[in-house]
Amino acid sequence: MSIEPATLPFAARADRLTGSEIDSSTSLLQRQTHDIVRLAMGSPAAEAIPSEVLGAIAAEVYAAGAPTFDYGPTEGEAGLLDQLERFTGTGRERLLVTAGGMQGLDLVCKLFVDPGDVVAVEAPTYTNGSATIASYEGRLLEVPVDEDGLVVDALAELGDALPRPPKMIYTIPTFQNPSGKTLSLRRRGELLALAERWGAVVLEDDPYGRLAFDGSPPPSLVSLSDEAPWVLGVQTFSKIVAPGLRCGWIEAAPSVIALMIAAKQCMDTCSNVPAQLLMERFLALGEMDAHLDRLRTIYRRRKEAMMRSLAASLGPLGATWTDPGGGFFTWVSFPPPIDTRELFEAALAAGVAYIPGDAFVTGPGSTDSLRLCFASCTSARAELGVARLRDAIVARYNPA
Ligand SMILES: Cc1ncc(COP(=O)(O)O)c(C=O)c1O
Repeated sequence: MSIEPATLPFAARADRLTGSEIDSSTSLLQRQTHDIVRLAMGSPAAEAIPSEVLGAIAAEVYAAGAPTFDYGPTEGEAGLLDQLERFTGTGRERLLVTAGGMQGLDLVCKLFVDPGDVVAVEAPTYTNGSATIASYEGRLLEVPVDEDGLVVDALAELGDALPRPPKMIYTIPTFQNPSGKTLSLRRRGELLALAERWGAVVLEDDPYGRLAFDGSPPPSLVSLSDEAPWVLGVQTFSKIVAPGLRCGWIEAAPSVIALMIAAKQCMDTCSNVPAQLLMERFLALGEMDAHLDRLRTIYRRRKEAMMRSLAASLGPLGATWTDPGGGFFTWVSFPPPIDTRELFEAALAAGVAYIPGDAFVTGPGSTDSLRLCFASCTSARAELGVARLRDAIVARYNPA
């Protein structure tokens, strides 16, 4: 007897599994055989990944015998937690090692989002974050972003107009993905006060805060909140060491961490032990500050080169873009009739990949914009990619 997959008794939430266009772009690009400048995925620069050092440490870790390959404690390897305490200045009772930032987002949503709950998000926001909220059947309340990040006044107005205010606020306040914007210090205070008034949880997703090009960004919401239990931080080594290790952490109140450990135990038991041991030893080298300085220099140069390429190639077409103070992304907007979704296939054929703006919002919208990652490619490759993008636009829309 053959059963059609569509007739299987799926859970209601299966309908809400949208996946991520960002992640799918990795497979899409792997299938292409022509040369493509990859400005789509938020991958670190190849030279920013300390692969030689990690390779040498990996050899030691893998040679260490059975414990390397055994189950580990759910909260994280003790040695990695020691190092994380030093690196973050946070006590281990407030830390949980996760399989990258994504698992952190999943665990927080698992704990706080019931079907129908309203979760406020930036518009545009990180696709995987909103997809995670949707997978727990949360409803997204999209709030605009301006030069100073999330518009907290708009959030207050939108949330107060609901029968019940949002239960959670998901924000990427520093060098936001995808806009590159940073929430000002004043707004950070206002956001925390608003969340407290609503009794809402703040989920601060902060993969890029350590990658400031000049000076330092405002303090994180977690640090500003004086360990308030309703503020949770999700962090990752993906952008500052290596995404393939899938190693990140959550910072939260000890009682919340205890619940997350229970949630993680019925998810994956513990994070990958060899990857944790690798990260532990990498941190123990004591070279993280110098490593981060190097990354900031690489990414600042790449960002500056991207700004020059955009001005040369897309400025004459009437495009505008953000000039981020750190992180990986710039958000480029075009005048009508340019539609970045419609353009995507032609751009890919012309040899450049980006993420169309509508991937970062729910429903229609933002098709006048796209996200470019300036971190992954060398400046010369990025310049070529932006020129290919211009050529694809000119070929399709023939703007004057
Ligand atoms: C804002 C944001 N949050 C979370 C993640 C996921 O991080 P990880 O790759 O460690 O799961 C990313 C990765 O692009 C991101 O940009």
